[in-house]
Amino acid sequence: MRTQVGIVGAGPAGLLLSHLLHLQGVESVVLEARSRQYVEERVRAGVLEHGTVNTLKEAGVGARMMRQGLMHHGIELQFAKRRHRIDFQELTGGKGVMVYAQHEVVKDLVEARLAVQGQLYYELEDVRVSAFDGSKPKIHFRRDGTAQELTCDFIAGCDGFHGICRPSIPARVLNIFERVYPFAWLGILAQAAPSSKELIYAYHERGFALLSMRSPEISRLYIQCPPEEDIANWPDEKIWQELQTRLGMDGWKLTEGSVLQKGITGMRSFVVEPMRFGSLFLAGDSAHIVPPTGAKGLNLAAADVRVLARALAEYYSSGKTHLLDAYSETCLRRVWKVQRFSWWMTSMLHRFAEENPFDQRRQLAELDYVTSSRAASTSLAENYVGLPLD
Ligand code: APR
Ligand code: PHB
Repeated sequence: MRTQVGIVGAGPAGLLLSHLLHLQGVESVVLEARSRQYVEERVRAGVLEHGTVNTLKEAGVGARMMRQGLMHHGIELQFAKRRHRIDFQELTGGKGVMVYAQHEVVKDLVEARLAVQGQLYYELEDVRVSAFDGSKPKIHFRRDGTAQELTCDFIAGCDGFHGICRPSIPARVLNIFERVYPFAWLGILAQAAPSSKELIYAYHERGFALLSMRSPEISRLYIQCPPEEDIANWPDEKIWQELQTRLGMDGWKLTEGSVLQKGITGMRSFVVEPMRFGSLFLAGDSAHIVPPTGAKGLNLAAADVRVLARALAEYYSSGKTHLLDAYSETCLRRVWKVQRFSWWMTSMLHRFAEENPFDQRRQLAELDYVTSSRAASTSLAENYVGLPLD
């Protein structure tokens, strides 16, 4: 097999890249280890920045998102038994975010690729990349037990944090920057009408809690828990009780419902530099991870592939490599600002085991400042709806 761009991974990064390349007349093949059903049903993030929404709309894959997604123009920050609204619309000149599940974005992209006979291959085994320090890199894999090879001009490593592309680059050329947080999030998806119109981020003495949603019937809720926590220790009643304690207010209770899904996710900040080696380009979670407090993972992936699609299109139309050469630097400038924001939201809203009462007073003062100063609220709002893409 041969193509122009071989893409490893059919998550949001790989699929959006393949679609954006197609719109510019560049051919790609997407190779995925898991099944289509697994990728389309995997419950992940759910908040799309203003710029991500526009990217999907402009690429012609935003119709269902515009019909079924929930447009939000602010969030609530809750602490010291009070709620404070950050009004994105007013603070950012009319911008907002779209609450629309990542796996729905994935379904829309798969449909768009298949509608034009895009080449997507699922359930591949032993995926490997080779010769990417030269100009004819290869991707090797087994399909239905048969060994195959894809020869391409470029490889896009869109295979997530646990993928094979990043570890295939010689360790001596990579710089890794990492912080692992001393807590995790226990998340549930519940058959319950969301108890608030907007997301509520709560700082509580027992730990952080978040009220989010997927639709007018489905709530998505999280609580901070120890990193080594076993989900078996959390029967549904105990989860609801903890959510009520952390999110409840005088005269206000969460609407409960049956728990459809639950799980625990670790919290990490991670960046690899550079995001390119030879003809292998890393994009999305394969290059960086953010803690979910800023709702940025999917949005960062979308921003990377926009930059990469444009650079590849420029190369194929003019032969010029300047945008490809600038890829890593262009992405990393924005990646680090988003890392800063995600770290800051996480630090402000969680309880850290090693903290003393001074740190807790400082966190409360920070929340008080963010919600009472227009300058500080504007800073949160402009980061949350998304920093400029270019
Ligand atoms: N070969 C082929 N595919 C692979 C391999 C491999 N060796 N390893 C992993 N993959 C696939 C995974 O199965 C997954 O479908 O790569 C895909 C990577 O997708 P994501 O993990 O969703 O990463 P990305 O597309 O970068 O999207 C970033 O994902 O982690 C979330 O919340 C985060 O929203 C963010 C988004
Ligand atoms: C979600 O709905 O899953 C969600 C929302 C906001 C976040 C993180 C996750 O900050």
